[in-house]
Amino acid sequence: MILNKTENLSTAAGDAWHQSSGAEGFSSKRWLAYFQENKSSCPQIVIPEAVKVSQSIRPSLIRSLQRFQIGETGEGKHLKKFASKMNDPVYEQCIDMFIKEEQHHARILAQMIASMDGTLLTWHWSDLVFIALRRLLHLKTEIFVLLIAEVIGKCFYRTCSAHLEDPLLSDAFSLIVLDELGHLEFHCGFLRSQFETAPIFLRRCVLLCWSALFFCASYVFIADHKAALTALNVTPQQFLRDLSTSFRICSQRSLALEPKVEPKD
Ligand SMILES: [Fe+2]
Ligand SMILES: [Fe+2]
Repeated sequence: MILNKTENLSTAAGDAWHQSSGAEGFSSKRWLAYFQENKSSCPQIVIPEAVKVSQSIRPSLIRSLQRFQIGETGEGKHLKKFASKMNDPVYEQCIDMFIKEEQHHARILAQMIASMDGTLLTWHWSDLVFIALRRLLHLKTEIFVLLIAEVIGKCFYRTCSAHLEDPLLSDAFSLIVLDELGHLEFHCGFLRSQFETAPIFLRRCVLLCWSALFFCASYVFIADHKAALTALNVTPQQFLRDLSTSFRICSQRSLALEPKVEPKD
C-alpha cells in the first residue's frame, strides 16, 4: 500500500513544512519547489472501465464521490484573486498549482465514478455552502474554510483507501491522500506565518470560532455521507474521531498553539 509507507508525514510536504515553519518562516519558494516536484513525480493514474466494488457498496460510494468530485472541480478564481493581494507572485504560483492538483483529483474521481457506472453531478448544495462561506471575508477566512474541507476530504479518501478491496482504486485514493496531506501542510504553514505573532487571546478566539464551524461541518458531512461510511465499515463515531484528530493537529499548527512539551530531566 502506497499510503502506509508515507502517511507519517515524512513526505516532501512534511519536509517543506518543517523547513518553512522553522526559523526562516513560511517560504513560498520551497512550496513552489514541492508542488513542481509533486507534479513531475506524480504517477499516471488510469482507472479501468470496470473495478471490483461490490454492489452493496456501489450506490452509496458513488453518491459520496459525486459530491467530492464537484468540490474538487472549481477554478479557484476567488482564491487566486485574494492570493494576488499578498504581493507574492511565487505564492500565487503555489495557489495555481494547488488548484491544478485539486482539478486533477476531480478527473480521477470522475474516472472512478464512471468505472462504477455512475454519472457526474453538475451542482450540489454542500459545494455552494462551502463556496459562500469561503468568500465571506478575505484570504485567511477562505483558507480557514478550505482547510475544513481538506481535513474532511483527506479523512474520507483515506477511509476509502483502507477499506476498498480493489487494489487500483485503493492506491489511487492513497495518492490523493498524499496530495491532501501536502495541501494541509501548505495552508497550515501559510496561516501560521500570518498568525504566529498575533496576541494569544486573538488566536484562541479564532480557534474557538474555527472549531465551532468545523464541528458543524463535520456533523452535516457525517449525516449526509452516513451510508457510504457504513458501507465502508466505519462508524460515525470513528470517523468523527479521525476528523477531530486531524483538525486538532491542523488548527494548533496554523495558529501556533501547540501544547508545550516539557523537556525531560
Ligand atoms: Fe483534493
Ligand atoms: Fe486538497
